[in-house]
Amino acid sequence: MATTPAVKTRFTTEDDITAEVVRRFQGTPDPRLREIMVSLTNHLHQFVKDVRLNEGEWWKAIQFLTATGHMCSDKRQEFILLSDTMGISMLVDLISNGKPPGATESTVFGPFYREGGPEMAAGQNMAEGAQGGTPTIIRGRVLDMDGQPIAGAMLDVWQADPQGLYDSQHPELEELHMRGIYRSDAEGRYLIRTMRPVHYQIPSDGPVGEMLRATNRHPWRPAHVHFKVTAEGYQPLTTHLFDNVDEYLDSDAVFGVKDSLITRFEVSSEPPSCTAEYDFVLAKS
Ligand code: BEZ
Ligand code: FE
Repeated sequence: MATTPAVKTRFTTEDDITAEVVRRFQGTPDPRLREIMVSLTNHLHQFVKDVRLNEGEWWKAIQFLTATGHMCSDKRQEFILLSDTMGISMLVDLISNGKPPGATESTVFGPFYREGGPEMAAGQNMAEGAQGGTPTIIRGRVLDMDGQPIAGAMLDVWQADPQGLYDSQHPELEELHMRGIYRSDAEGRYLIRTMRPVHYQIPSDGPVGEMLRATNRHPWRPAHVHFKVTAEGYQPLTTHLFDNVDEYLDSDAVFGVKDSLITRFEVSSEPPSCTAEYDFVLAKS
């Protein structure tokens, strides 16, 4: 006579399969990994069910992710770009780097940071050799939450050139360009000489670009300068200063704009130049 098995071993309905995959992750020893895998399974399965994902679409997704991996190298990180354009990088930033009120807000790191930028004296030009562009001074102070100066803070600065390209996007350029490491003085002051940033397109010759075109999204980032500000005893800050007149402030392709980071680039016409002032405020670590 046939007996009924005590434990179900066949998973034929949509809900059966989800429940069984979750059950198999329940033995994960690390509680955080367990939480992540269980939640990921529930959300991914629910997504597949919600959109009634068919085999052709699933295969297209596999091909898309494979192409994304193939596009990654030491000069190109297509997965970061995918995370950025899906708003995931900004979500993780908001969750991880929330600063107390009054401290300068962080924003997306982006794929173009390079270690080993050249040390610059106050006022030294990090845009030496740039073609075109408007000479620009960015100056201000690095302060603590009580408004007191932080001396010796390190400001690691990088930006796209006046053509809207980072150094690593110029195939012929081996050395670093449009980068510099500045330090605040005894009064917390810093002084950067560069070119006015321009808006630029994120790389769109790969699968992420294909996704943006298929969904009628543009690839532009509003003009900005990147900063990594660090000082002993303070939380590190990764952020941008955005040019307040840029046309893409409200539609940044990677969702990185925060109101508090929008800065006035004051224009003087004789000779054409710009000055931006910004005080960075760091929270204690
Ligand atoms: C950037 O600002 O350098 C950047 C950020 C996200 C994606 C692409 C570029
Ligand atoms: Fe950038």
